Amino acid sequence: MEIKIRDYQTADCSAILTIINDAILHSTALYDYNERTLAAQEMIFEEKLQKGFPVIVAEMNNEVVGFGYYSEFRFREAYKFTVEHSVYANKNAIGKGIGKLLLTELIQLAKAQNLHTMIGVIDSENTNSIDFHKRFGFEEVGFIKESGFKFDRWLHSVIVQKML
Ligand SMILES: CC(C)(COP(=O)(O)OP(=O)(O)OC[C@H]1O[C@@H](n2cnc3c(N)ncnc32)[C@H](O)[C@@H]1OP(=O)(O)O)[C@@H](O)C(=O)NCCC(=O)NCCS
Repeated sequence: MEIKIRDYQTADCSAILTIINDAILHSTALYDYNERTLAAQEMIFEEKLQKGFPVIVAEMNNEVVGFGYYSEFRFREAYKFTVEHSVYANKNAIGKGIGKLLLTELIQLAKAQNLHTMIGVIDSENTNSIDFHKRFGFEEVGFIKESGFKFDRWLHSVIVQKML
């Protein structure tokens, strides 16, 4: 099945929101407690695009089955060559190469924007994502213990980094 990677359009947001809200309700991949509204999510992407950061989607059979983006890691000026990214595939389409295409494209885009390094902040329980990132040359460079609290337990964040 062909997977196409393209730029995000506002019309994609509803399919993306389904992926995000599922992760919010059923996983520790996202540290939100409550589902997001469509308007809130559209605004989040709009802000990234306005700052010149990419938001991309993966499409299969004309359906959005994954998305990725990056934006500033932290807000102070000296961080301007560092970005933090996210990649998600629809849970019904895991392991089909969607994440690989999205992350490969984000790395290419970051290099083209002359960025220096990419950071991922991953919940320590999400070993799938940590292992997935290592395939792309990301290294574990940090561990922030008990940085989150969700589902009545403390969560730890693993920081992964790739030098571009
Ligand atoms: C992490 C995620 C984006 C990976 O996407 P995916 O589409 O399932 O992964 P792919 O099918 O593209 O796999 C790409 C490569 O990573 C490898 N890989 C994927 N999952 C892996 C795992 N759990 N362990 C080891 N390798 C893994 C694949 O074998 C493949 O390698 P190959 O090209 O050598 O065959 C996806 O599982 C996901 O969205 N998970 C839920 C949300 C999430 O955790 N997002 C990240 C938040 S930081």
